[in-house]
Amino acid sequence: MCGIVGYIGHRNAFPILIKGLKRLEYRGYDSAGVALLNGGMTVFKKAGKVSELEKIVDNSVTHATIGIGHTRWATHGEPNDRNAHPHVSNSGNLSIIHNGIIENYASIKAALQKRGYVFHSDTDTEVLVNLIEEVQKTENTTLDNAVRIALNEVVGAYAIVVLNKLNPDQLVAARKGSPLVIGIGENEYFIASDATPIIEYTKQVVYLDDQEVAVLNRDGNYTVRTLGNIEKSHEIQKLEISIERIEKGGFEHFMLKEIYEQPKAIEDSLRGRMNAAQGWIKLGGLDEYITHIDNADRFIITACGTSWHSGLIGEYLIEDLARVPVEVEYASEFRYRNPILKEGDVVIAISQSGETADTLAAIELAKERQALIYGICNVIGSSIPRTAHTGSYTHAGPEIGVASTKAFSTQISIITLIALQLAKVKGTMSASNLREILYELEDIPRKIEETLALDPLIKEIAAIYKNATNFLYLGRGYNFPVALEGALKLKEISYIHAEGYPAAEMKHGPIALIDENMPVVFLATNKSAYEKIVSNVQEVKARKGKIIAVVNKGDTQIRELADHIIEVPETHEILSPLITIVPLQLLAYHIAIMRGCNVDQPRNLAKSVTVE
Ligand code: G6P
Repeated sequence: MCGIVGYIGHRNAFPILIKGLKRLEYRGYDSAGVALLNGGMTVFKKAGKVSELEKIVDNSVTHATIGIGHTRWATHGEPNDRNAHPHVSNSGNLSIIHNGIIENYASIKAALQKRGYVFHSDTDTEVLVNLIEEVQKTENTTLDNAVRIALNEVVGAYAIVVLNKLNPDQLVAARKGSPLVIGIGENEYFIASDATPIIEYTKQVVYLDDQEVAVLNRDGNYTVRTLGNIEKSHEIQKLEISIERIEKGGFEHFMLKEIYEQPKAIEDSLRGRMNAAQGWIKLGGLDEYITHIDNADRFIITACGTSWHSGLIGEYLIEDLARVPVEVEYASEFRYRNPILKEGDVVIAISQSGETADTLAAIELAKERQALIYGICNVIGSSIPRTAHTGSYTHAGPEIGVASTKAFSTQISIITLIALQLAKVKGTMSASNLREILYELEDIPRKIEETLALDPLIKEIAAIYKNATNFLYLGRGYNFPVALEGALKLKEISYIHAEGYPAAEMKHGPIALIDENMPVVFLATNKSAYEKIVSNVQEVKARKGKIIAVVNKGDTQIRELADHIIEVPETHEILSPLITIVPLQLLAYHIAIMRGCNVDQPRNLAKSVTVE
């Protein structure tokens, strides 16, 4: 959601904050702001992108060696200048940036209003900064103590950084349910909601835990205490990502770069974890708990958005190969519907960011009820892997485009390894079958390269359908979740209404929508259900729908029926989503670009959804 960046040290803070905000813009981009201490407190904030903020900044007053910056994804109050962060307390002494939601803000606000506080925005954040100020006044205490006391009164989730005009040598930060990472430089500190604004300056970081308050001092020391005032020490961790991986590297957009990175991302996700020639799979997180996992009667996969779609593929894979029942749950539903969980159950949480509030809450609930939690996440050191008992990183590298692409394919490659390893342990698959699939898996990056070469053709198809108002995506078996994901990609970035359906379900409703204006994307690579899909294609054709079919190279039957054929390299059916998703990502990308949409930062969306 929102992006947070702060700096204290010897450098000029403003350029660090602006650059950091641009790197964080993928998290939220409806408004931005900075606050600097340079004798007084200077605050600039503006609705729109960071570039809009830059336009209104008076550069003659930006020299400061301490400051905070924020990009917002609106929760309380519409995105305008007034509601943008930082928010300043009534005295003008404190300013705050905040990610998250203060649920009991209305009652706190009413109490503060009775004491004479005046509010200039609709945000919960402005309430929090004034609560801290009120505590500081009434308790006559330091800022960090006031922050601790105030946060003990607060219900909700937050990551905050507070600036105090009366103490320009200190930043105070705290988190609960929303990430914060401290970058440790030479006599300087950086703080941010993820490592992207920091890696340019230092690789040494500390991840704050929930309910912790950090004080960063200009003299080069920092402390971390819990909300209960107990001192904590954290191991300093080394960031493994490089600056190149968070830049566009010659591509027009992050999304396109990330689509093209998929062969490498999948290779990275598989590296050291399998060997087809020798027939082994090695997932540290799985091996460690293999007895428990092998004994589980069922698996529950929980996730949101695109990660939920890879969860559906996981269900097909695990049930198909390892013969264990799997349920796939939207995390937001699972956490509130009093699910049946028992000791021994295994809950697999899938999340690119590792910070999605609903997924995190779902696994916390499952953990309380004694389930074993297996996290499949991309962002190293994020909250879900730290909460889970075990798990595997996807190693896709930073994903900046809001629409998830390479994270999806690497999630699938990890779940494939899990399903195969389980099948091996349970003896539900022969060694030769296993080896055959592993060989195919090793070859997937090459086949994705081949699929990416179809980009010019897909662009031509995009040009024909760019003005469509609806799209239907149909697939069977392993390609059904791909249909859902293809439709999601299109609606996320092009704002065209799109629906994914199991191909056979079409006749129970969506068929009513089909006429000559309806493009229907068929995923028709499955050999097992080929004839059935051909019938579904016929049904659409009979109603004059426009057919775009993704088929295996050399397909003859569907070629006769479809308006457009996208021929992809054939693979083992269980691995087909890794190939068939690629043309759908490209189709969505090109249509969105042709419609003039911002593909990396689509309206209303956020990359990391840290509120429920
Ligand atoms: C947001 C993003 C999606 C993502 C979903 C789940 O909606 O825009 O791309 O799939 O959150 O995020 P996660 O980080 O948990 O995979």
